[in-house]
Amino acid sequence: MEAAEVPAVATERRFAQRLRERLEEERLLDGRYRLQRAPGGRVALPVLEEKLSQLCLPPEMPCELLRIQEPVPSRAARRRTPARRLRDELRRLLGAGWSAELERDVPHAWQRHGDMVLLSEDSFRAAPWDRLGSALWQAVASALGARRVARRGRVMPDGMRTPSVTLLLGQHGWVEHVDNGIRYTFDVTKCMFSPGNITEKLRVASLPCSGEVLVDLYAGIGYFTLPFLVHAGAAFVHACEWNSHAVEALHRSLVLNGVRDRCRIHSGDSRQLQLRDVADRVNLGLIPSSEEGWPVACRVLKKDTGGVLHIHHNVEAGPAPAQLPAERGSAGAASSAGEARRPTEPGGEDTPGARLRPEWRSWAEGTAARIRGLLAELHGRPWRTSVLHVEAVKSYAPHVHHLVLDLECRPAPPV
Ligand SMILES: C[S@@+](CC[C@H](N)C(=O)[O-])C[C@H]1O[C@@H](n2cnc3c(N)ncnc32)[C@H](O)[C@@H]1O
Repeated sequence: MEAAEVPAVATERRFAQRLRERLEEERLLDGRYRLQRAPGGRVALPVLEEKLSQLCLPPEMPCELLRIQEPVPSRAARRRTPARRLRDELRRLLGAGWSAELERDVPHAWQRHGDMVLLSEDSFRAAPWDRLGSALWQAVASALGARRVARRGRVMPDGMRTPSVTLLLGQHGWVEHVDNGIRYTFDVTKCMFSPGNITEKLRVASLPCSGEVLVDLYAGIGYFTLPFLVHAGAAFVHACEWNSHAVEALHRSLVLNGVRDRCRIHSGDSRQLQLRDVADRVNLGLIPSSEEGWPVACRVLKKDTGGVLHIHHNVEAGPAPAQLPAERGSAGAASSAGEARRPTEPGGEDTPGARLRPEWRSWAEGTAARIRGLLAELHGRPWRTSVLHVEAVKSYAPHVHHLVLDLECRPAPPV
């Protein structure tokens, strides 16, 4: 964000070059802005606000100190990347106190949510920054064209995915984030947004769910609930969430996207959900494991027609065999009816099963068998399950992948 006005020294055109050299020599010239015309055919040279106390108007030329409204950024300033602008601004702020240690501590990347810049955990940790107090955060905001600044800490291991984000500049942490045409709003100090799930959100958005009723057992701020409603055409979503801040964010985002009337929020522990026999589809978006939600997922599935479960899980596997492009993401798989069937013939380029690592396949087949067992026990009759697809969302840790299993579950026809 550029300043609304800056101080400048005006002089006659014929003295402009000399004045410029003089101000440059004394490090008072503000190179971020262009020279500008001043009343009386004069030229105004922008000077640094914070160094005004050091300014002595040269007696050998006619000079006047004035202020320029809406100063025009110089060509050099416009060419700089935001990271460079940030570094230059801070360097100017620190003056002689600038050091290599501080330079290393200035971030090159950050997240942006509307007018808020969200800095990473390891930025601005060196002791000298503390002495600047709020001037530091004002400078960061100004350099990056933001109004608010926050810094993230670690996500708390509390089951609610509470972020330890500190607001450094600004009055509140509510932001709006637009993703695939969906508006998400949330308080960054209370809830987190997972950019790592983008591929899964896009995939969910493209599923044909027209007319379906969906249960989202771990709705968060609506990462999946909203794409199901806005893009996939789900008729209705039951969204379960136990973090009250996420519930508030979800409510606001549903309103923002005009789909509030097609969603019921169940605030509380999804394992205690009282719904039964309502869902065509259940989303179980919890890692490292959504296993605790499997019994309730089986209960909410329509008992006469069944449906599809999207089961998230972190699965460990050894390094991918060199000849298989296994890290590339999605992996189709074959079905299992009663007993897990093998994926189609391995080897061919087009064979979907070829990209499914053995550990992923055995996790998918094991999960299918467990769910079949739960459904059979619940309804007192056999069910069939089919592994429709295994999606590798992201690498979570070395050799650990966040997978999603799309599992079709149907009551077996009577023999
Ligand atoms: C990982 S986030 C969900 C968002 C999305 N799936 C993602 O990975 O970014 C999981 C959400 O489930 C909620 N949650 C976890 N266990 C829950 C439970 N037993 N009942 C209701 N909500 C739960 C957490 O509060 C959190 O908001």
